[in-house]
Amino acid sequence: MNSSDFSRFLSGRSSVREFSETPLNQAEIDFIISCAGTAPSAGNLEAWDVVVVTDAELRLDLAESAFGQQHVSKAPALFVVCANYVRSMSQYGERGILYAVQDATIACTYMMLAAHTQNISTCWTGAFEEDEVRQVLGLPPHVRPLAILAAGHGHATAVRAGRMNIGEHVHSDGW
Ligand SMILES: Cc1cc2nc3c(=O)[nH]c(=O)nc-3n(C[C@H](O)[C@H](O)[C@H](O)COP(=O)(O)O)c2cc1C
Repeated sequence: MNSSDFSRFLSGRSSVREFSETPLNQAEIDFIISCAGTAPSAGNLEAWDVVVVTDAELRLDLAESAFGQQHVSKAPALFVVCANYVRSMSQYGERGILYAVQDATIACTYMMLAAHTQNISTCWTGAFEEDEVRQVLGLPPHVRPLAILAAGHGHATAVRAGRMNIGEHVHSDGW
């Protein structure tokens, strides 16, 4: 893939919140997760885990945990990406908390982009009550749910979300 293909690939993705009922098949789910397995991580400790949720009742419960966001129940698959603090803190102590968050965020990004290669739409969902998500999924205390990546077959809206001028992010040789 050359740089223009890559730019086109990235700008061809946008968040989708309307999904058909067509489920993701196991090969699609496995592909998405295996791509996350190639992500970099602090000390190569891979301090992330994912709970794949396809059960309709659990999706409804998670949508409630996400303040009623409907796309969470409508998406046929949810990838609940968690930071695994113990895995990273065992080597890095307190700093491991930050590393685990970064590892999980990168893993989720890889999943989102892996889905995009398969024409599977996603919506990264960060607004949810963590304790409710913990309870619904029976998460152990040493992991923190960071994102619910809602995934399925759907269509992007014609109007893409705008972006800041890229220059506003950039500071050269100091702030
Ligand atoms: C950390 C994070 C949290 C987000 N949380 C939500 C959310 O709770 N609900 C939602 O509908 N979209 C959520 N989004 C998606 C953003 O709204 C979306 O990425 C942004 O508006 C840019 O649009 P685009 O993804 O179509 O380019 C989240 C995205 C990120 C990265």
